[in-house]
Order: sequence, then C-alpha cells, then structure tokens
Amino acid sequence: MFRFAHLTDPHVGPLPRPALKHLLGKRITGYVNWRRGRRDAHDMDLLASLVSDLREQAPDHIICTGDVCNLGLASEWPSSRIFLDGLGTPETVTFVPGNHDAYVYGSLEGLMAALDPYAVGDEPGLTRFPFVRRRGPVAFVGLSSAIPTAPFVASGKLGRTQVKHAEALLQALAPEPLLRVVLIHHPPHVGGAPAGRNLVDAERFEAMIGRVGADLVIHGHNHTGSLAMLVGPDDRPVPVVGAPSASARGGTLTHRAGYHLFRVHDEDEGRFRISAELRGLGPDGAFGSQGPVDISGKAPGRRLSARARA
Ligand SMILES: [Fe+2]
Repeated sequence: MFRFAHLTDPHVGPLPRPALKHLLGKRITGYVNWRRGRRDAHDMDLLASLVSDLREQAPDHIICTGDVCNLGLASEWPSSRIFLDGLGTPETVTFVPGNHDAYVYGSLEGLMAALDPYAVGDEPGLTRFPFVRRRGPVAFVGLSSAIPTAPFVASGKLGRTQVKHAEALLQALAPEPLLRVVLIHHPPHVGGAPAGRNLVDAERFEAMIGRVGADLVIHGHNHTGSLAMLVGPDDRPVPVVGAPSASARGGTLTHRAGYHLFRVHDEDEGRFRISAELRGLGPDGAFGSQGPVDISGKAPGRRLSARARA
C-alpha cells in the first residue's frame, strides 16, 4: 500500500535576527508581528516531534505545501533546506511554496534556488509550476500560489497561465491509471479564506477542476484541518483537504501541530481509494495518531470549511 504524508506551514525557526537594512517595507510589519505572536505560536520542539513521528511512519512520499519561512529572509533559505533535507531526499519529498516564502520581491526566487531539487517535475526543462511527479500510483501536480503582497495581506494567486497549464496536465493524466493529487499552499476554493488571505483566482481554479477533475487537492495556509468538496466532471466529488500547521503550539485538535497521512488502497484493477489519518499533538501532550479523517464529505456533523456543492 502506497502512503504519503502531507505537512504544511512549519514556519521554521528560530528566526535569525535580521540586519536592520533587511527590515524594509513589509518585513518591518512582519517582523513586529513575528516578535509579538508568531514566535510563540510555532514551537520547534513540536516540529521535531512531528518529524520524528513522520520518520517512524516511513511514508513512501512526503509533501510540504509551503511557509517554511517567516519573512523570506536570505538567512532563512539554508534553514529551510536543512529542514527539507531532514525529511528525506528530493526523490521522496516534494515542496510547493506559500505566501511567507514569497514575503517580498526576490524572496521566492532565493528560496526556490535553495530548494530546487524538491520542486522540479519528472521531465526536465519545463517551467517549474505546474510540475508533475509520478510516485507509485500517484501523480502529484505541484502549483504555486505564492506571490509577494502588501503589508498585512496574505493572499495568493495562480494566474491564468498556470491554471491553463495545470488544466492541460490534469487532462493528459486523466486516462492514466494514476490518482491525480494537486498540491497548493492556499485553500483553492471560493470561501476557503477571508479576503486579504484568500486565493484571489479561486473561481478560476474551481472552474478548471470542474472541467478536468482531480482525485484530491491538499493545501495549508489556514493552520487548521479542514475539508471542502469541489465537483469534477460527471459530478465526481473532489475532496479539498487542509492540514494544520506542523509546528502550532495551541488550539483545538485540528489546530495543533500535526500532519495528514494518506493511504492509497488498491481496490481492484486501476481503481484506488484514498483514506486519511491525522497524526499530531494530542490533548495528553503526546504525539501520535489522532484518528481517521473523513475526506468523503459524508460523515454526519462534519462542518465543511467552504460551500459544499457535491
Ligand atoms: Fe502559514
């Protein structure tokens, strides 16, 4: 059975003390915010516990959907590389960036240069996003919603060209006996995050999924576990699953440090089913399984984070 893990928003620290000359523009507000709260919200000991649990589980593949950085400082890029190297090799770990990785102009380019082998497709020579990595029965399609924004804005954007290329890729993959799993930092559905934090072209993404479908979409950004359902061709539901931050200290079960472990069950010829488990920090302070996660959208009482149209 093929298993893959999804972690997100580790906000790797401690943040190196930035030189004043680097605290320009948006970074000043970001640094003040980080000093006030984010530094305490994210716990590197918890992140270490998560990585240790992940290593014990030994999934076949690991996905990180961004926000390895805090302010997109050059000094954070080597720390981010060390973090991903600690998860596994570029062959077994895939990365797509988040808004904190593209904090100001130049941040994203610097980070991606450091993390290059973790975010390239199987076929060399193509533009970086979207990319496809085939691993076992899964085709991972990596997207980037990371763009620099004004202070206090954390929105994301895919852009017309990236969505067009993603559509062509997903369409080409559809006849193959593979599960198509889309990776993105921002919740890519309408209503997935409030204005100022949302994917500004979520409608375009939803329409694209409506035309070509996917088997699963996984994202981060909201620092909480969530489920929404989109609709693909022939009314097939497409689960959109958000994971909690990998290093969050407090909050409820779906807010505390955790990650999702997905299992791909081989039902019969060419048919697969995906199940999910939340592994993370429990109420007792121990790190481990917090039980299965319903990704069918059918569990009674499940509150969907966005409009359910299935
Ligand atoms: Fe984040």
